[in-house]
Amino acid sequence: IMKNLVVAIDGPAGAGKSSVAKKVAELLGLDYLDTGAIYRALAFYLNAMGFEPVESPYLTEILSKIKVSLSDGCVYINGADVTEHIRSPRVDSIVSSYAALPTVRRCLLSIQREQAEEGGLVADGRDMGTVVFPDATIKIYLTASDSVRAKRRHLQLLERGEKVSFDEVLRQIQNRDQFDSNREIAPLCQASDAIFVDTSSMTEDEVVDYLVRLVKENSNQVVL
Ligand code: CDP
Ligand code: CDP
Repeated sequence: IMKNLVVAIDGPAGAGKSSVAKKVAELLGLDYLDTGAIYRALAFYLNAMGFEPVESPYLTEILSKIKVSLSDGCVYINGADVTEHIRSPRVDSIVSSYAALPTVRRCLLSIQREQAEEGGLVADGRDMGTVVFPDATIKIYLTASDSVRAKRRHLQLLERGEKVSFDEVLRQIQNRDQFDSNREIAPLCQASDAIFVDTSSMTEDEVVDYLVRLVKENSNQVVL
């Protein structure tokens, strides 16, 4: 019944996209696609292989051979599970420069679209509503104030045992958002037909409930 229903969620770092998208998908019986994870995996891999984040014939060559795959919330590069490496502060600091490369984005386009062919999908990232799924059933632009987003991300990092200061996290996500918003190809921006949701004073559960309601209202399909 839910076939081809696509919920596209975009927004800046720490807005709550992944945690909310995952729960919305669970509640609606849809698949969840974390596109940030595939950009992170590819950036981690290319960096480990010694590739600088610049276009070159070598980069084009290696990207034409790389196999990126997703399965059960894990991400694989050429069959190797890299999931546990992709959320480090190190990858946080390098991912945007790789994600700005046209060759990298082209390489990851089909794997994202393929996910929607298998059934209904909740996808989150930066260009879901603008580039990857322009015909999505419903588009959400999820955001919150810089300080709220930095607070959320800071807490997340502390829980993971990373020792970073709030100020450092704030500066880091502001830099990354600025870079993501100003790149030439598929920049972070709200699609003209996206619903703007400011979550600054909403709990995670409130956001989840609100989005589930929006999806139900905006889809003609029966959602149980
Ligand atoms: O969780 P967080 O918002 O910190 O980041 P993420 O969603 O995992 O994305 C990491 C980075 O990947 C972003 O800062 C972007 O540079 C890039 N990205 C992108 O360019 N396009 C997407 N659809 C998703 C992520
Ligand atoms: O994917 P994105 O970078 O947009 O954010 P996230 O990783 O899903 O969320 C960052 C943190 O904020 C997580 O620990 C969420 O549980 C938390 N969160 C929150 O406290 N309040 C919300 N309304 C949404 C998320």
